[in-house]
Amino acid sequence: MNVTQELLSRLLANQPVTAAELALLLKAQGKACELIYATADGLRSRRMGDEVFLRGIIEFSNICKNNCWYCGIRCDNTSVTRYRMTDEEIIETARNAQRWGCGTVVLQSGEDPFYTAGRLGDILRRIKEETGLAVTLSVGVRSRDELSRLKEAGCDRYLLRFETTSNALFSAIHPDEPFENRVRCLTDLRELGYQVGSGFMIGLPGSTPEMIAHDILFATRLSLDMIGCGPFLSHPDTPLAEKPLLADREIYYKTIALLRLLNPDAHIPATTAFDALDPDGRNLVLQRGANVFMPNVTPGKFRRNYQLYPNKPCVDEDGAACAICVRGRLANLGRPVGSGPGHTKRLP
Ligand code: 5AD
Ligand code: FES
Repeated sequence: MNVTQELLSRLLANQPVTAAELALLLKAQGKACELIYATADGLRSRRMGDEVFLRGIIEFSNICKNNCWYCGIRCDNTSVTRYRMTDEEIIETARNAQRWGCGTVVLQSGEDPFYTAGRLGDILRRIKEETGLAVTLSVGVRSRDELSRLKEAGCDRYLLRFETTSNALFSAIHPDEPFENRVRCLTDLRELGYQVGSGFMIGLPGSTPEMIAHDILFATRLSLDMIGCGPFLSHPDTPLAEKPLLADREIYYKTIALLRLLNPDAHIPATTAFDALDPDGRNLVLQRGANVFMPNVTPGKFRRNYQLYPNKPCVDEDGAACAICVRGRLANLGRPVGSGPGHTKRLP
């Protein structure tokens, strides 16, 4: 057995691996790389099945109080036209998502204090009452009290990426908030009974296979219900403009495959940013460990203004177009659309 085969069989046997060993896998090329993909795809099929769950994402506000260095909607970017969807628009969009076959809606926004826990709770209750869909929130760091009230309002899940485990890098690119706050928030979410999703950007400036290996191990240690990761894509209107992609394009996909191998029961989305990397990026990720697709259901007129990174796909489409497109994509891959909410497998 060669090194790749040996490490992969250890991962399949649920034996621990070190960051150095994961870094070796992240550097695999050619046949070794193909073997990592095939092994992750097989494990995904055995543990999660072939169904792909659809989570419709509603980008309901692009107003953000923060200035994260990578993000296109950071508050200092004055070239963005800011918007907030009304409660009615959000609820109508959730109804559409249900019509288009989504079992979950993900409400995502910038860190916008206008949406207090009370206001978000009202929207959540109405969505739950009218559609019964699973609801995920992705609205940034919130206090434990707010998270508790949102849970009471019926929120099922929460997404909050830790972005990177490098302390130096995290503080350099997040002027508004320390790493510990995110981890505190993730701990609160867990204790409050949420299904918790987190993850990181792959290939932030200065990142190495060793750093990515640490990010993978940290995500694994959090025992996440969902793991969302995508490539870092340099946005021209940010302090991280003109930062290149990683030289090894495959490393983005190998990261997802390794996350699957270490987290056999987690929901792993083929995140939208992969389509900005390669036109069929999301399809490739679905064949390399992922089992979730997050079609954008945001009304067409808002989409152009929610570009966290450049070349975002689907900005000229509307929800119906994406709903048709995603069905075609899954049919091409021979993968059925998941039925029901696609809750975590980890609930007791
Ligand atoms: N490239 C890739 N991903 C980005 N995000 C924000 N900006 C970028 C970018 N330039 C990701 C962050 C955030 C999620 C909502 O979008 O990881 O948590
Ligand atoms: Fe939006 Fe294909 S998923 S157009």
